[in-house]
Amino acid sequence: MGAFSFLKELLLLPKMKKLTIAIDGYSACGKSTLAKDLAEKLGYIFIDSGAMYRGVSLYCLRNGLVENSIPDLIEIKKALPKINLEFKRIKDENHLFLNEEDVSIEIRSNEVAQIVSKIAVIGEVRKKLVNEQRKMGEFGGIIMDGRDIGSVVFPNAELKLFVTASEEVRVQRRFDELKSKGIISSIEEVRTNLKERDYIDSHRKIGPLIQVSDAIVIDNSNLSRQEQLDFALGLVFEYNSTSH
Ligand code: CDP
Repeated sequence: MGAFSFLKELLLLPKMKKLTIAIDGYSACGKSTLAKDLAEKLGYIFIDSGAMYRGVSLYCLRNGLVENSIPDLIEIKKALPKINLEFKRIKDENHLFLNEEDVSIEIRSNEVAQIVSKIAVIGEVRKKLVNEQRKMGEFGGIIMDGRDIGSVVFPNAELKLFVTASEEVRVQRRFDELKSKGIISSIEEVRTNLKERDYIDSHRKIGPLIQVSDAIVIDNSNLSRQEQLDFALGLVFEYNSTSH
C-alpha cells in the first residue's frame, strides 16, 4: 500500500465521526509512533500516557521520593497534588511540561526508565493520571497509547489496538532511539529494563497490561512504519464505513 492509497477516505475525513482509539502494548513496541502517525493523518489529538507516568517518576526522583530504587509510597501520595502535568504542542510535537517546565527530554533518561514501572503500580498515581487522561478524551478524536487504555481509561473506545513485536526488535528499536537522543545505554541494559518493566506492568494488581478481547493485534516485527500506519488507517476507515 502506498501513501496515497487512502486518498478518497482522507478527503471524506471531515464528515466522519471522531473516534476514540486506544493503543496498548509492551515496552518499545512502536505504540507511540503508530499513535502519532495516525493522529497526524486523521487530525486527532495524540496522547502518550507513558510520558505522564514518566513525568511523575521524574518529580519523585528530583524530590528525593525514591531511595535505592524504592519509592516512598507515603510521601509520593502526599506529593501528588503538587504534580502538574500538561502537554503543549511545539513545532508539531507534543512536549510534556511538569510544573511549567518542559521535561520531554529528561523523562526519557535511564534513571526514569528504571523507576517508572515501580511508580506506575501505585494506585493513587494511576487514579490521578487515569482521571486526567479521561478528561483529555471527553470529546473523542483522540488516540492514546499506553498499557491500560483499552481496558481502564477508555473501555468504550471504538477502536482498540494491541501492538506487539519480538523482543529482539523492541530492544534494538529502543537502543537506536536512545542513541539518537544522545542517551548512552548498552543493548543489555536496554534489554534488562524492557523485560523488567514488561513483567511489572503485566503483573500489577491495578490496570495491568492485558490484551482485551476486543483489541485487534498488530505484530509489527516485520512491518515498516508506513505499512503499520496503512493497516491501522484501513481499520479506522472500515469502522466508519460499516453501520456504526
Ligand atoms: O516507551 P515505552 O513503551 O518504553 O514506555 P512508556 O509508554 O513511556 O511507559 C513507561 C512506563 O509507564 C511503562 O513501563 C508503565 O510502567 C507505565 N505506564 C502505565 O503503567 N500505564 C500506561 N497507560 C502507560 C505507561
